[in-house]
Amino acid sequence: MAASLTYPFSGAHLQLPGMLYQICDGLGKFILPSNCRNEQMKDEILGSSDYHTPVLPEQVLKAFPGKNRVIIDATAGGGGHSELLLKAGHKVIALDRDVDSLAQTATRLKEFGDAFTSVHANFSCIDEVLAPLGIDKVDGILADFGVSSHQLDEAKRGFSFMRSGPLDMRMNQSQGITAKEVVETYSESELKRIFWEYGEEKQSGKIARCLVEERQKTEFHTTLNLADYILKRVGRREKIHPATRVFQALRIEVNNELGEIESLLKKSPALLNTGGRLTLISFHSLEDRLVKRFFAHQSAKTIDRPEWPEAKPNPDYCLKTITKKPMMADQRECKINPRSRTAKLRIAEKI
Ligand SMILES: C[S@@+](CC[C@H](N)C(=O)[O-])C[C@H]1O[C@@H](n2cnc3c(N)ncnc32)[C@H](O)[C@@H]1O
Repeated sequence: MAASLTYPFSGAHLQLPGMLYQICDGLGKFILPSNCRNEQMKDEILGSSDYHTPVLPEQVLKAFPGKNRVIIDATAGGGGHSELLLKAGHKVIALDRDVDSLAQTATRLKEFGDAFTSVHANFSCIDEVLAPLGIDKVDGILADFGVSSHQLDEAKRGFSFMRSGPLDMRMNQSQGITAKEVVETYSESELKRIFWEYGEEKQSGKIARCLVEERQKTEFHTTLNLADYILKRVGRREKIHPATRVFQALRIEVNNELGEIESLLKKSPALLNTGGRLTLISFHSLEDRLVKRFFAHQSAKTIDRPEWPEAKPNPDYCLKTITKKPMMADQRECKINPRSRTAKLRIAEKI
């Protein structure tokens, strides 16, 4: 009989039939990426699923050489990266905070049997996931940050202003507050701060002031209501829609995305075997900065400060940075999968 554990952090159930857990119901809807003209070519080159095309597939495979290694895919999404790793002969423990993504991926990768385990969890709780599986350490951890194409494409998830949907943006819809609640309840200064810090929006002050004024009179029910209002108040000055940065900021706030990454970084080294690799893919400078600084600090044998007479040994030294510069998609990949244009992959190895 399957054991059942409740995770306080996600409200999810981890069922352990022996050592394995797979969700096989609640199939997600399959959506073809609209930008792909030649699906067969894309599948062959990128190993894509209909749900999400994995970025930097060759680089991810090279990051985990050999086979029969145990790798955590901390952001399962459509399972594209998991599938590549499974096909290369590795064992994969896949996490996702989005139960629909995980369910569809677990169903799609059922053929890999015991080599694939899926767990509904936030990656900030990566350390709590292994013990119930009877695993102490792993040989690799992969994370491909942000949302999947499927999440963006599904209007009802409320991530995109390209389609009208509820102003939600939660990756785990059973947890936390929605973007609508943020817009309705945060003070003007809090809104200004998140638009500035997470969206790098130059007009953060003006947008925050207008929203606080407008919300006295009207409710922002949908993504389009909000995007149209921002367009009306600030106008179009650049190629991108003026709501783009505000939407990025709201998504980061709603899902505590940077806090999640910080916890993952802090916990990962202790979960890796010597020689195990941490491979992280970022899509904007806020994410990449966290990864870059963390790798630099953990890879430094000593630390020095101007006020110290001499450098001291770094108590956190435990990684070797493998990628001095981040790996990025080549022209061919950018053409086939435009999402890969901003992807930056960094690898560090446990020493
Ligand atoms: C870019 S997609 C990953 C795509 C995947 N690599 C593939 O090949 O299909 C990111 C996924 O990570 C999940 N995610 C984002 N933040 C998370 C977190 N803190 N914990 C767990 N899953 C997270 C999202 O729900 C989404 O499904």
